Amino acid sequence: MLTGKKAIILGIESSCDETAAAVIRGRELLSDEIISSAPVQAQYGGVVPEIASRAHTDAVDEVVCRALANAGVKKEELDAVAVTYGAGLLGALLVGLSFAKGLAYGLGIPLIGVNHIRGHLAAAYLEDEALHPPFVSLLASGGHTAILYAKTETEFEVLGSTLDDAAGEAFDKVARVLGLPYPGGPHLEALAREGEPVIPLPAMLKGEGGYRFSYSGLKTAVINYVHNKEQRGEPWSRADVASSFQHAALDVLVKKTAEAAEEKRVSVITAGGGVIANGYLRSSLSRMAEQRGLHLVLPPKAHCTDNAAMIAAEGAVLFRARHFSPFSLNAEAYLPLS
Ligand code: KG4
Ligand code: ZN
Repeated sequence: MLTGKKAIILGIESSCDETAAAVIRGRELLSDEIISSAPVQAQYGGVVPEIASRAHTDAVDEVVCRALANAGVKKEELDAVAVTYGAGLLGALLVGLSFAKGLAYGLGIPLIGVNHIRGHLAAAYLEDEALHPPFVSLLASGGHTAILYAKTETEFEVLGSTLDDAAGEAFDKVARVLGLPYPGGPHLEALAREGEPVIPLPAMLKGEGGYRFSYSGLKTAVINYVHNKEQRGEPWSRADVASSFQHAALDVLVKKTAEAAEEKRVSVITAGGGVIANGYLRSSLSRMAEQRGLHLVLPPKAHCTDNAAMIAAEGAVLFRARHFSPFSLNAEAYLPLS
């Protein structure tokens, strides 16, 4: 790469049920492709790892070719290949990782292994050309719920995280209790729009300060409410349960993000992860930011749920830091946030 030229990076994501590839130049998104096996997985009520791995094998070449073609970029023009190496399903990760290794090796360019969850955080960089740390970031996905303080592009302080279930996991479990199909989160959001938050649910970690979360008590309270109503043969509203749960699960995220921004004296907040695709959460965050005079960088919904643009974005961060990976890089089922 010539000095001063913006790096062109291909991102590849295959940690769960989305096979995705995207090309960025600097912070400009040139293409963003995705092939999802979610409709097939829905027939089984959740992700079947073996089906996911096979679907990635079928799709990976096609999404990468499409991403390059739609970007108008020849593979020889790439400066690096960034790929998710964890956390996720091992067989699924290995498909994207092996493909990325072969491509980077063949082209003689760096391989950049990306921690999926750091990708969710980096999605905000594509949304705002001018975004630079320090800022506070709200992370809420199927595996993580945390509030972070970004000191630099590569250094985060975890201010607090969940003590048990992640927010997305709680959405999926409550959705199942309400008889909603996979994936639970978006279906629960749609049902909540038809109801009111009238059912009293326990306040999360009442009386405890800090930025910790706990979703297991809230989930159990919803399950107990539904079972009690059913056992007594009393009528109950699925939509009201969905709405009440959604408020209880998400209001606390907005409140604690605001508190963290105040404590850290930052004027910018960002958000990432599948749960940030939730419309109620997005409007609550926007309202809070407006009231407090904060600049909110909210990636579009498609960059909150799994995608490869965010992997390319984190790849660009690591490229600038010259943080390249060896070709012996292996897939990891679990990876810490930092
Ligand atoms: O970030 P993501 O796509 O995958 C992980 O890295 O985990 O997040 C998936 C999680 C799932 O639990 C899903 O139910 C939740 O995000 N989710 C939502 C919505 N869309 C996805 N939760 C609430 N409302 C949504 N609209
Ligand atoms: Zn994800």
